[in-house]
Amino acid sequence: MKKYIIGNWKMNPSTFAEADRLASRIQMLNRGSAEVVLCPPVYFLAQLSKKFPQLFWGAQDCFWEASGAYTGEISSEYIRTHGAAFVLLGHSERRMYLEESDEMVAKKLRHVLKRKLTPVLCVGGGEGLREPEQCLAAARIQLTTAVRGIPGKILAGGRIIIAYEPTWAIGTGRPATSKHIAAAASLIREQISSHYGTIIADGTPVLYGGSVNASIVPKLKKKSNLQGYLVGGASLNALEFSKIIELS
Ligand code: 13P
Repeated sequence: MKKYIIGNWKMNPSTFAEADRLASRIQMLNRGSAEVVLCPPVYFLAQLSKKFPQLFWGAQDCFWEASGAYTGEISSEYIRTHGAAFVLLGHSERRMYLEESDEMVAKKLRHVLKRKLTPVLCVGGGEGLREPEQCLAAARIQLTTAVRGIPGKILAGGRIIIAYEPTWAIGTGRPATSKHIAAAASLIREQISSHYGTIIADGTPVLYGGSVNASIVPKLKKKSNLQGYLVGGASLNALEFSKIIELS
């Protein structure tokens, strides 16, 4: 299965010049066989994807309707026509600060699949999730709610990517243990398998995100059955990001 290294720049950097510099450094890296996807702030997406078409691009969110009176929202049409093929959905920070619910994420997921974008569904994060076990339990519910009613044939062949991102590991410098991540990856696969069978479950890439840095990658590679990483802070540092790519 393909490996994905996805950089979520969140609301960084603050100027286009810095974003341009960072993308140009990342573009020069030896990316091997990994699919390197960058998710910059959406207001930089059009210019960056045009200037660096060798990279894969993604948005950090997408609204569930194609157009209409939805102030401030981002449309799939904009994302598609500005060089992005991927969309993060249900990120922990959106669940926490904007009270994005499982039902909202489910609507977004349906829309994004219909528009032939690849969703990166983030699970395991949200308000009040402080313990590892809570994040696993939340991931199960979030995943089930998101995919409920979507026919298996739509999700076959890696059409959806799942990223396990436990709230307490994000932005803390303390990634989850490889044991916990392996348990999360198994739980996600079991969930998909229970809805859709093992072929679809085995074909679905599962990523980990939460304080990913180059030093944890070799350990995770051996132990956790992951198809890549969703990287926040470290994706803003081209050198660290390059090591993550190289070691994955
Ligand atoms: P950090 O890598 O900064 O912990 O962020 C993880 C994340 O939220 C990626 O989406």
